[in-house]
Amino acid sequence: MVILAAGKSTRMKSKRSKVLHPLCGRPVVSYVIAAAKKLKIDELYVVRSPLQNDLKEYLKTENVRSVVQKEPRGTADAVLAARGALNSLSVLILCGDTPLVRPETLRAFVNAVEEKNASVGFLTMNPADPTDYGRIVRDLDGQMIRIVEEKDASDEERRISEVNSGIIIARCDFLFRALSRIGSENAKGEFYITDIAGLAMKDGASVLAFNTSPPEDFLGINTRIDLAEAQKIMQARINRRHMLEGVSIVDPESAYIDADVKIGMDTTIFPGAFLLGKTEVGKNCTIESGVVLRDALVRDGAHIKAMSVVEESVVDKDASVGPFARIRPGSKVGKKSRVGNFVELKKCTLRDGAKANHLSYLGDALVGKRVNVGCGTITCNYDGFAKHRTIIGDGSFVGSDVQFVAPVRIGKGSVIGAGSTITRNVPADALAIARAEQVNVKGWAKKNRNS
Ligand code: UD1
Ligand code: CA
Repeated sequence: MVILAAGKSTRMKSKRSKVLHPLCGRPVVSYVIAAAKKLKIDELYVVRSPLQNDLKEYLKTENVRSVVQKEPRGTADAVLAARGALNSLSVLILCGDTPLVRPETLRAFVNAVEEKNASVGFLTMNPADPTDYGRIVRDLDGQMIRIVEEKDASDEERRISEVNSGIIIARCDFLFRALSRIGSENAKGEFYITDIAGLAMKDGASVLAFNTSPPEDFLGINTRIDLAEAQKIMQARINRRHMLEGVSIVDPESAYIDADVKIGMDTTIFPGAFLLGKTEVGKNCTIESGVVLRDALVRDGAHIKAMSVVEESVVDKDASVGPFARIRPGSKVGKKSRVGNFVELKKCTLRDGAKANHLSYLGDALVGKRVNVGCGTITCNYDGFAKHRTIIGDGSFVGSDVQFVAPVRIGKGSVIGAGSTITRNVPADALAIARAEQVNVKGWAKKNRNS
């Protein structure tokens, strides 16, 4: 099996390889590779160009071998690049830019070609708009006779609605004989794999056009418009899968859930939520509008309120976060803990039952069990050179507008008076106040008002 991915990606207008553009959080080509792997055909090669270092590196993570097409001279030339590597009798050719393809369809196609004993088979479809695809030309008996590419087609041929999906099976002996005869006398000056259809007819070899639907499964991504369309279709599939598994998605068209995200039963996702990367959400959770979860672990019963961001962090069972909270990497919100509006955590653990309900910054901090952090509390974790930790013991009470100048350690059960700037450690069960004495000057305001 060969996946073609060495094209120039001219229409994408990008420095990144077209097949590595993200689609629901994974590279476009990863879906093709996943479908290919499901077929359990031994040989799998991706054809890449020598310039695509990004693709070369990515393929290592997928454990897939690649062959190099020296120059992007067209799809026929790309298949030729794999010639030396292939040992099988026939080869399934997929395009790296066609991520919506389903393994079941590929299986049915392989079976049909085997059954008919065809030398070459083309998987074809009838999209609503056939523009840009190669058209399937059939004779009066309905036999497929050749494929004509958009740029080479006559007006009449452009009206043909049946097109080549780009997915082809061919017997290797026939294929490589045919490929060596293909020329590049066409509008693009490229060697087209699709020309083997006409050659097969001339040679009297059997050709099968396997027409299937829905056409959206074979959408080829050439432009960013195609990418956005594919994203919509893939997102709808992902969201359907979650809904069938017991997740409520209030408006499936506006829930952005990446391919690898896991969500438990009876969780509700409100419109405009983004669940990205390797995020996992447990059962009975509520994810409100505008929430962004990136590589987050949200455990059962947690409630993430509107417009909150959680990245590379854990929100434990029955905890609540937001609205308008920001949980930055390396943080943990403990069981039944609460993080309220305009609170930012960074590398901060709130142990079980701790609360920081309003307007705080807690960075490089450990906040003990059931600690109440008052409004406006700040950990001053950075001295201009290095980051330092603040540790607040279990059961402590932190009044409003406190600054902890780290490194500093607060013993268990202590009380920190509002407005304090705490620069030294506080022993357990103590009261710490660090602010200027209040001065009341009698009549001062009245005097100034009247003068
Ligand atoms: C191709 C087909 C067209 C079909 C469409 C389906 C040809 C000539 N045309 O057109 O009939 O309807 O796919 O989506 O095959 N590639 C290489 N090396 C190259 C050129 C391309 O590896 O030298 C790879 C690309 O990275 C891509 C795939 O082959 O993944 C298809 O190439 P692309 O240029 O996108 O072909 P289309 O114009 O879409
Ligand atoms: Ca294409």
